[in-house]
Amino acid sequence: MPDKQQLDAYWMPFTANRDYKAAPRIVASASGMYYHDQSGRQILDGTAGLWCVPLGHSHPVIVRAVQKAIATLDYAPAFQMGHPAAFELAAELVEYSGRRFGQVFYTNSGSEAVDTALKMVLAYHRARGEGQRTRFIGRERGYHGVGFGGMSVGGLSANRKQFGNLLGGVDYLPHTHNLEKNAFSRGLPEYGAHLADELERLVTLHDASTIAAVIVEPLSGSAGVILPPKHYLQRLRELCDKHGILLIFDEVITGFGRMATPFACDYFGVTPDLMTTAKGLTNGVVPMGAVFSKPAIYDTLMQGPAGIELFHGYTYSGHPLACAAGLAALRVFKEEKVLEHAQSMTAYWEDGLHSLKGLPYVIDLRNAGLIGAIELESLPGKPGARAMEVYKTAFAEGVLIRTTGDIIALSPPLILEKQHIDELFGKLREILKRNA
Ligand SMILES: Cc1ncc(COP(=O)(O)O)c(C=O)c1O
Repeated sequence: MPDKQQLDAYWMPFTANRDYKAAPRIVASASGMYYHDQSGRQILDGTAGLWCVPLGHSHPVIVRAVQKAIATLDYAPAFQMGHPAAFELAAELVEYSGRRFGQVFYTNSGSEAVDTALKMVLAYHRARGEGQRTRFIGRERGYHGVGFGGMSVGGLSANRKQFGNLLGGVDYLPHTHNLEKNAFSRGLPEYGAHLADELERLVTLHDASTIAAVIVEPLSGSAGVILPPKHYLQRLRELCDKHGILLIFDEVITGFGRMATPFACDYFGVTPDLMTTAKGLTNGVVPMGAVFSKPAIYDTLMQGPAGIELFHGYTYSGHPLACAAGLAALRVFKEEKVLEHAQSMTAYWEDGLHSLKGLPYVIDLRNAGLIGAIELESLPGKPGARAMEVYKTAFAEGVLIRTTGDIIALSPPLILEKQHIDELFGKLREILKRNA
C-alpha cells in the first residue's frame, strides 16, 4: 500500500483524490478475467479495465510480442521515416475494417485520435476549396476525450465547466436518452430516430456550407451507456450526405469487438468518413490510438503541393511497442475467434443483466453487444452518491464496475464465460438488494 507521501504526490485523473486517498483501492496484478490486489484477492473485471482490455489481462501472445519488440527496436521516429511493424499494422487494420477505410493515422490515445480527426476534417475541406466549413456538430452527453477539440465537441457539462470557452463554432444534437419511452429496452431502443433530424434544424440555422463534420459515438459509453435508437445512425448518415457534411464515429470504446463485431459501424451497418479508435487496439497494453480514414479524404490531401500534406503527428505515433501489441491483439482476435465467442455470450449477458429488474432503485437496465448499464434512482440532492456506494462495496466484495453519475456501466473482457456473468450479476444482485 502506498504511504502518505506517495499518495500525496500522485494527482490522480478523473478521481475524487481526497476521498480515494482516505481509503485507496489498489490492484497489483491481473490475468484473464481478474485483477488481484496486493494480498492476492481476486477482483472480477466487469469493465475490461477502462473498456480497453477485450482479450483479457496479460494475454501471453501479446506479452511475448511486446517483450520481443522491446528487445529489438525500442523506438523509431515516425516523421519522414518508419519501421516495418507500423506499415504492417496499418495494412492489417484496414483489412480488419473490412476495407471500409483505406488509411490509418496513429496517435497515442483516444483524445488525440479525436483531435486528429477534427484537424483532418478541416484540412480536407480546405484542400477542396471549402475552407469556410469549420463548424463542428457534437452531441449532448457525448464524450470525446479531454483535448480541447474533443472537450469542445463533447457534451458532458462536468468535463467542460472548469475550462472556459473551449473551441468556438460548435453546436450540438440532442442526446437520445429517454427513460419514459425506452426504459428496460433489450438491445436498441425503439423511440428516438427522429432526433437525428435535429441536424436539419442546425443546418437551417448555420447553413450547411459552414458545417465541417458531425461527431458522435455510435453508442455513448462514458455518459453511462446511451444507445442509439433504431435507425438513428442511418438517418444521421443520410443527412450528412445530403449536406456534404463529414461524419465521424468515435469508436474509442466500441471499436475492437465491444458489440461482438469488429467495430460498431459493422454492427449498425453505417460507415462514417472517419473513425477514431484506441483502447482495445492494443488490448490496453501500450497506449495507442488510430484514426481510420476513407480513401477520399486521404486522396484529396495527397493532391496538394509537394511536401508534408498534413502538419500533424506525435513523437510516439506508431511506437514499435504499440504496433507489436496491436499486431498481436489482431492475431488473437482472429486465431481465438474472440468475436464469435463474444457473440455467443450476448444472449446470456442480456438475460443476466435484465434479471436485476425489480431490485431497489433500479430504474433502467439496457444492453447491446457485451455492454450493460444499470441506472439507479439518485439519492435526493446527491447525484452519483448511490452508484458510488455500490462501486465501493462491489470492489470490496471482488467485482470491478464503473459508474457515471448514478449509472453503473458494465463492459467485461470479451473472453468471459457464463460463470463470470453469473458471478458479476450474482454479486451485484446481493449488493443492490442490501440497498433497500
Ligand atoms: C468515445 C471516447 N472518445 C475518446 C476517449 C478518450 O480516450 P483517451 O482516454 O484514451 O484519451 C474515450 C475514453 O473513454 C471515449 O470513450
